[in-house]
Amino acid sequence: MISLDKKIKSLVLSHFEGVKSSAASIRTRNAQRGDLLRFTLDSGETLVVKLWKIRSMKERVKLALHISNGRREWEMHKAAHNQEINVPKPLNYQILSIPDDALYEVMTISDLGDCISGEPFINQMKESGENDKIASLETFIIETTLIMVKKDIFDIDNQLDNYLVDKNGGFWRIDFECARRRYNPFQKRKDYAIMLERLLRSHLHAVHPDSKRTTSFMSRMVTELSVPKKIRKMVLKISEKELQKEKLSSNINYEISLNW
Ligand SMILES: Nc1ncnc2c1ncn2[C@@H]1O[C@H](COP(=O)(O)OP(=O)(O)OP(=O)(O)O)[C@@H](O)[C@H]1O
Ligand SMILES: [Mg+2]
Repeated sequence: MISLDKKIKSLVLSHFEGVKSSAASIRTRNAQRGDLLRFTLDSGETLVVKLWKIRSMKERVKLALHISNGRREWEMHKAAHNQEINVPKPLNYQILSIPDDALYEVMTISDLGDCISGEPFINQMKESGENDKIASLETFIIETTLIMVKKDIFDIDNQLDNYLVDKNGGFWRIDFECARRRYNPFQKRKDYAIMLERLLRSHLHAVHPDSKRTTSFMSRMVTELSVPKKIRKMVLKISEKELQKEKLSSNINYEISLNW
């Protein structure tokens, strides 16, 4: 990791004005994907660098075709930024070759500082009885989802983990690795349903056992997005299946009643 850290530091240096300290890891990701690192510039400003290691021939081909995960996240992150969704500022995307190691995709974005993600935030606010703060986060999620759908951006990972709350209580959306632009009506409907269902389930996990909160959140969502009945039915069908799977694996019985 030493040589990788050095290389990334010099890469970051070549784009920004001087890097004060070496990188600190803020998150280790699954499957040797690469970490999320934080760099401090001479100016005191900090940057977050997200890495994707190219681990197979298939990933190499996707990289050459510009459909690799890092490239996709970069493009969708920029698209969200252009739509004025509150995302960290997109700063730079590069491919980095480390001799005797591998190729890496390197995305640099602005640093939000220490944040808490949606699910633990809801839990904390539930405990302290700050329901207005939960409602504000829910409004942000609905508004963000609405902008994405209007722009044909569908993200099957649009879930509470990918919404952050910063120290000042500001809301942010991150992580567009799974987001895609969809124009084919069939694909659009399918991804729209999966996107809403993923959100439904992550919300249900966060508020458990008070599933009425999810019922009212999702009812607000489908009203404000004017989600067609056909999609709502698809959401119900997927969630029935997924909740059944979760029940078998975790033994927790998440239930929700939605009058759609
Ligand atoms: N710009 C940022 N500023 C501050 N923290 C960030 C930033 N981007 C990401 N993080 C932190 O890193 C975590 C993971 O980021 P992200 O969702 O982009 O990666 P991921 O691929 O989903 O990783 P994982 O699967 O481990 O969640 C976030 O939950 C957040 O704590
Ligand atoms: Mg994530």
